[in-house]
Amino acid sequence: MPTKIVLGLQHGDEGKGRVVDDLVQTWADVIVRFQGGGNAGHTVYDEDGNKFVTHILPVGVLNKNKFNLIAKGCVVNIVDLYKEIKSLDVKPKNLLVSGLCPTIEPVHLAKDRVKYQGRLGTTGRGIGPAYSDFYARDSVLFKDIVNNPSESLSKIQEKFFDYQTYLAETYMVDKDEDIHLLIEKNFETFNDWIKEYYDAAEYLEPFLLKKENMIQDLYAADLNILLEGAQGSGLSINSVNYPDVTSSSPSVGEALNSTGLNHRQIDEVIGVIKSYKTKVGTGKFPSEIFSSYANILAEVGKEYGATTGRPRKCGWLDLDEVKSAVVENGVTHLCVTKTDVMTHVDNPMYYAEEMFFKTPRIYNVTREDEGFNTLLGHISQHTGVKNISFTTGPKRGEVVWYTELIDD
Ligand code: IMP
Repeated sequence: MPTKIVLGLQHGDEGKGRVVDDLVQTWADVIVRFQGGGNAGHTVYDEDGNKFVTHILPVGVLNKNKFNLIAKGCVVNIVDLYKEIKSLDVKPKNLLVSGLCPTIEPVHLAKDRVKYQGRLGTTGRGIGPAYSDFYARDSVLFKDIVNNPSESLSKIQEKFFDYQTYLAETYMVDKDEDIHLLIEKNFETFNDWIKEYYDAAEYLEPFLLKKENMIQDLYAADLNILLEGAQGSGLSINSVNYPDVTSSSPSVGEALNSTGLNHRQIDEVIGVIKSYKTKVGTGKFPSEIFSSYANILAEVGKEYGATTGRPRKCGWLDLDEVKSAVVENGVTHLCVTKTDVMTHVDNPMYYAEEMFFKTPRIYNVTREDEGFNTLLGHISQHTGVKNISFTTGPKRGEVVWYTELIDD
């Protein structure tokens, strides 16, 4: 059966969550998160407008009849995972977690806060330091914690105290009060985390994936598998935007590494793009808007981080970055989100390293509207993707799938 993958092709926050949710309702049997961690915030509004946000959990957990996996390429904070599972009342029959997922420990939260949050504008969820330990082969894995919580805790404590000692020694030399405050804050975080540690480890044991290559059994059983990307191509650790990136790669390549599927088992690559662009954190942003349009987009589009609550910077659609991501990932379909937000502003876009302002305004999100058709036409022409889908509003059910522009 076909496997589909949903990827963000900008800087995250493209609306992947609601696109995944639509496919969960209509198509998918199995939903797999394959990279990143609790830095993601996938937002879904149901038919009645009720809002749900998942961070480390795949969006498929919102549907009690679907089976979800967190694959080994994800980094997992077991305390946050435990809380998220409880808050959404997820059961082990609906979710399993790879035992090979590296875990996010208090030392990673501390290092992220001390070293990277200010410098790179990270989400502060410990993502970079957790992946660093993984590649240094120094991670405590998810299976280590659920199978042997007390031995794992000793290792976690040792790493944390080593780091605190290093900070204390730095303080002795520099006498920097900020370091002193950070040391105290780290202890608070550590103590809060430890309080929940044993409960989390025990509660999560039934969620441990017992057979690592189970995905191949699901594939052989003809189930519809949906791979749910987090963040976006522009934030990939392998992108030209390094170091203003996250520490995983939201790409087809990473999905294969993480899940154990092979490239011939991927049938559709769906790239999600917002009809304008937003960005949080540091790094270049050639299509950034500096006029009042930025405020209009931010207000109408509710552009505040689902994980951190930070305001997002707004810019016009950058088709150069979309084109690169399309090529690198072999994108077969594009889904354009938040097109309704564009009815409040003019409709310029950025391509071939220049801004183009002379595009007609969008008044209605329908194919009869000249501005809307122009938007879809430009996207198709400049990316080479002819299957374009779009959303007409924020709620479940408001996705129009696969408009074949070339055949018009
Ligand atoms: P980290 O992933 O927390 O290390 O943050 C690295 C960069 O990626 C920062 O600029 C974050 O704002 C950005 N980032 C991480 N996750 C997301 C996301 O889900 N949406 C948008 N930006 C993100």
